[in-house]
Amino acid sequence: MSVAINDERTLLLIKPDGVLRGLCGRIIARLEDAGLAVVGLKMVQVGKEQAQRHYMDDPQWVANLGHKTLRTYAKHGRDPVAELGTDDPATIGGYIRGWLIDYITSGPTVACVLQGAHAVELVRKLSGDTMPIDAAPGTIRGDFSSVSAIAANTLHTAVKNVVHSSSDVDEARREIAEWFSPAEICVHRPVSWSAIY
Ligand code: CDP
Ligand code: MG
Repeated sequence: MSVAINDERTLLLIKPDGVLRGLCGRIIARLEDAGLAVVGLKMVQVGKEQAQRHYMDDPQWVANLGHKTLRTYAKHGRDPVAELGTDDPATIGGYIRGWLIDYITSGPTVACVLQGAHAVELVRKLSGDTMPIDAAPGTIRGDFSSVSAIAANTLHTAVKNVVHSSSDVDEARREIAEWFSPAEICVHRPVSWSAIY
């Protein structure tokens, strides 16, 4: 019995800062260079409702946003109460979710469905750490962005880190269904796959 090893899919979004800065071509080239097939691709002006569905009002995920800010503030020896008025992760996470909705609706977003072995893990690795200041050189966020929660959340904006990528297989499944209809996803076997697989 043959098992498909290259059918895993994930969602990558080039957020408005990446699109406005003209980085789409270079970002997509990195994904193709790593052996991924681009099986869905479009530019979208995201509206508020779509943004609210993408950045779900899930208490655990929202609190985790707050924890990321608190870790960054601790790392840099800053006081979240002085700068944000609270050190409660759920409250800070709620602020960030609002700023994220403003960010993703602020200009065009490019949405890509990528396919290949370990697509979810691979695209997370190529994206790099959430905080650009912590993202390794060679990653998209490490090479194309430089801010942190200190620089962004203190100014009451989301961390502009160029891309979004699904964090696990379940999130990828939900997000692909949210962003693409089945008819918008193509069957595509790049020529390079005959050398890779
Ligand atoms: O994008 P990723 O999965 O790495 O991180 P997340 O925890 O799912 O957060 C979603 C997005 O929220 C990030 O990509 C940042 O743009 C933003 N964020 C922020 O503005 N401030 C934080 N303290 C944490 C995240
Ligand atoms: Mg995430």
